[in-house]
Amino acid sequence: MRRSSRKLRAGVIGTGMGRYHMEGFATHPNSELLAVCDLNVPEAQAFADKYGAKHVFRDYRKMIAMEELDIVAVATPNYLHPKMTIAALKAGKDVLCEKPIAIRLADAEAMVRAAKRRGKRLMINVGMRFDPVHEELRQRVGRGELGKVYYARSHWIRRKGIPFADFPPTGEMARGEWFVKKRQAGGGALIDIGVHLFDLAWWLIGSPRPTSVLASMYSELLPDRLAKVGVRGDVDDLATALVKCATGQTIFLEVSWDAHQLPHLGYELFGTKAGAAWQDWEHKATLYQDTKAGKPTQKVIRPAGKTPSAYWHFVDSCLDRRRKMNASGEELLQVARVLDAIERSQKTGKAISLQGSGRPSAGGCG
Ligand SMILES: NC(=O)c1ccc[n+]([C@@H]2O[C@H](COP(=O)([O-])OP(=O)(O)OC[C@H]3O[C@@H](n4cnc5c(N)ncnc54)[C@H](O)[C@@H]3O)[C@@H](O)[C@H]2O)c1
Repeated sequence: MRRSSRKLRAGVIGTGMGRYHMEGFATHPNSELLAVCDLNVPEAQAFADKYGAKHVFRDYRKMIAMEELDIVAVATPNYLHPKMTIAALKAGKDVLCEKPIAIRLADAEAMVRAAKRRGKRLMINVGMRFDPVHEELRQRVGRGELGKVYYARSHWIRRKGIPFADFPPTGEMARGEWFVKKRQAGGGALIDIGVHLFDLAWWLIGSPRPTSVLASMYSELLPDRLAKVGVRGDVDDLATALVKCATGQTIFLEVSWDAHQLPHLGYELFGTKAGAAWQDWEHKATLYQDTKAGKPTQKVIRPAGKTPSAYWHFVDSCLDRRRKMNASGEELLQVARVLDAIERSQKTGKAISLQGSGRPSAGGCG
């Protein structure tokens, strides 16, 4: 344990998705919310009042300069993640940054380097990993219960799920126009929900090293839909990619913010002994297997227990530096490499080789 004498003190930048970070830090028995920062000061003040935070800031640099702050959460528009994260790491804080890690690969690399150099924790909030159903399947895959998992499909197709066009700007998150601006968001469906779905499938099958990517991206429905609400956007509304890995495993990703299709969310894992499927935020998955006599069977697995909090996991990882941290910056850097290759494949119309790019070390950084 780093400090047993007092609670870790947290500061959160951003009051959209950031409100979940605040709740996490305020409710963990060994952490407290000390500061909230947002350009919208009255909103930051309202959250500070709600969770008992003593300080409110408009300028994140002033917040991270606070000596007594231990951890910082970055929950601001994507283009701000690198500069806020690196500044906080340089100020000696451990950082929980929202997904995607960054919109430029070089920035993601710089963030991971900054964490390593200073021996600080850097976790990326890919919260889907924390549902016990995925952890249960990941362990079964790891124990070989599915045999060799050679193929994974991962998909999230929304019908009318374009931020700003379809989500109220008064909602809890995805309120900013930045979501549909390439310069600020880095992309659309791919970087927003593709990051979750690729990460989930890749992590479930053992985080193999990606070696090549062939992808297509579209923005067919988005411009007209945004025009109807008076907004211009220049990001993808659909991305699809085939990712081959050094292990011979293949991941097929398909994500869309808007399509004339039945909406669906889920993944399927194809193993030599068994297959597994999960869908629609259910806390259960189905295992498909043959009996010894070759008869196809299926059973539902339903892990007990509540979904552990990603925010609590981060606090625990900061308190116990020997603990293996889930969703480390290094792991999500691997995912960023794939997203970057997807973009490059779209631009060039060619398969992109990732031979020679690094893979995460077992312990993550920090
Ligand atoms: N993990 C998830 O499932 C999940 C879900 C939603 C959003 N996110 C991520 O969270 C991040 C924020 O998304 P959101 O939905 O909350 O967006 P949002 O537009 O609703 O909120 C962003 C907040 O950041 C504030 N902000 C902008 N610039 C700032 C600055 N310079 N200093 C301080 N505050 C600033 C804005 O005022 C706003 O309150 C994004 O990276 C997004 O991808 C993750």
